[in-house]
Amino acid sequence: MKLTVRENGSILVETNGSYVLRIGDQEQTLEKARFSLCRCGHSAQKPFCDGAHKAAGFEAPACEIEFQPLP
Ligand code: FES
Repeated sequence: MKLTVRENGSILVETNGSYVLRIGDQEQTLEKARFSLCRCGHSAQKPFCDGAHKAAGFEAPACEIEFQPLP
């Protein structure tokens, strides 16, 4: 899995092809290798980004996080 924190935008999550989303007592498995999480707080589709960060003028630096197995 890899996280790409986009400059002035969302967190792109790259998975191995599927993930389980749990919100409250609801759970669903989604077959998506990539999705974007909101980090600006303005999305109407939380936890996902809906592009609202652009209109909100959200500003934050970019970075990349790559997960590796422990030795
Ligand atoms: S980061 Fe895109 S709507 Fe929040």
